[in-house]
Amino acid sequence: MTFEKHILCIGAGYVGGPTMAMIACRCPRYRVTVVDVNREKIDQWNSDELPIYEPGLDEIVRAVRGKNLFFSTDIPKAIEENDIIFVSVNTPTKNYGVGAGMAADLQFWEKTAREILKYSKSPKIVIEKSTLPVKTALAMERILNSNHHGIAFDVLSNPEFLAEGTAVRDLTSPDRVLIGSEETERGLRARDILVEIYANWVPRERILTSNIWSSELSKLVSNAFLAQRISSINAISALCEKTDADITEVSRAVGTDSRIGPKFLNSSVGFGGSCFKKDILNLVYLCRHYGLNEVADYWEGVLKINDYQQDRFVLTMIDAMFNTLSGKKICVWGFAFKADTGDTRESPAIRITKRLVEENALVIVSDPKALKNARADLCGLEDRVSFVEDPMEAVKGCHALCVLTEWDLYRHQDFEAVYASMAKPSFLFDGRNILDHGKCFRIGFNVYPIGKPPMTHFQ
Ligand code: UDX
Ligand code: ADP
Repeated sequence: MTFEKHILCIGAGYVGGPTMAMIACRCPRYRVTVVDVNREKIDQWNSDELPIYEPGLDEIVRAVRGKNLFFSTDIPKAIEENDIIFVSVNTPTKNYGVGAGMAADLQFWEKTAREILKYSKSPKIVIEKSTLPVKTALAMERILNSNHHGIAFDVLSNPEFLAEGTAVRDLTSPDRVLIGSEETERGLRARDILVEIYANWVPRERILTSNIWSSELSKLVSNAFLAQRISSINAISALCEKTDADITEVSRAVGTDSRIGPKFLNSSVGFGGSCFKKDILNLVYLCRHYGLNEVADYWEGVLKINDYQQDRFVLTMIDAMFNTLSGKKICVWGFAFKADTGDTRESPAIRITKRLVEENALVIVSDPKALKNARADLCGLEDRVSFVEDPMEAVKGCHALCVLTEWDLYRHQDFEAVYASMAKPSFLFDGRNILDHGKCFRIGFNVYPIGKPPMTHFQ
């Protein structure tokens, strides 16, 4: 069969894998190839056990793999054979040199640009999918167009807004697709080719086009705004705990203002995930680079509140449990940074578990999908931390139970049985406000929600 378009994605991670599976599924006339330097990951994409857990993804991959979706490690051949290339490699926070701890580490991204240059024998449209600092496309353009073979490269920005756990839904019906291009005749022609790909299943009015810098910046700003809402509600949760106000009621009252809206106002133990922290650090670094220190300080505040919320959670535990956690068994329900994913990157559970260990507590971590990652995150703490998948088994004999991920499974446990199996007095710290606090209190727990008055049996 001859295909109409030959599409490649370099980087088979959380973004590249699902996005390309969706394109292959919705566009049977296009051939889509995904490559990665990591052979194990590619083997997994080619097996029955995909490297990431995403509801609905298995079915899509199974339907198109081997037909018009291919996973490979042969990067040179793939670059040569395809003319539309998405770049979806990781851009973590830099941990060395200038900008360490703040700026994006562009080494994988630049290496990819050089590989595209090295193996290209015909013109290519290169699309930035990875989240990058604004103006990165300019560097990409300069590297690619430094070739002496007269090959033309057009660089587009097409940030991905999918969230983990809902990737398939977000890709099937995105709020918007954003495509940034240079506003030259060539740039606009390349942009239209990408618009045509998405128009196979996304309504035209949801495909937004902009200049390339606005597109790069919009991705950072979208994540910064989402994180800012969480830090705002979490900051108010601290005030609620001091004033007997209830954060759920405040959040409902505020969120029903149609100008504000109800989403992303759930107070929690803090946000995690691979994007929010990294992208805000990146934004802060950019602002400082341009001498905008007040703007940088403003956004840095979002991260400070997020750390504060996690530390505050541990301080509440210490305070409630008679000022010592030493030797006490504490069960953690949920290690993933949110429900419906096995991903633990920047999960609040990491910082909280480490703080509990510093207090000499013995921590039992339970999670339905994230225990493999949890073990890696807590490597070296094995004498203090154990891992038990069954939540009922994990909580046995514990002095306290903390809920750190909003897995649905935890709402439906038998709390009479949980209480009966724990040491007394039994403490419950609900870092996601997902449990029925009144019921748990009546069973006998001392209950500490986020942003609400605690319910205790102590005089
Ligand atoms: C985010 C963005 O939503 C997505 O658009 C972008 O492409 C990547 O980053 P993701 O990191 O997958 O997606 O998760 P998201 O659903 O945004 O949640 C991030 C964190 O915020 C989680 O730890 C979640 O538990 C927390 N959160 C979310 C809250 O604490 N309260 C809320 O009301 C919402
Ligand atoms: P994201 O969440 O942005 O998708 P991931 O870390 O999940 O990020 O995935 C990025 C992928 O990019 C990883 O699988 C990594 O092995 C891959 N990668 C990094 N550098 C290169 C490269 N030069 N060529 C091909 N793949 C690369």
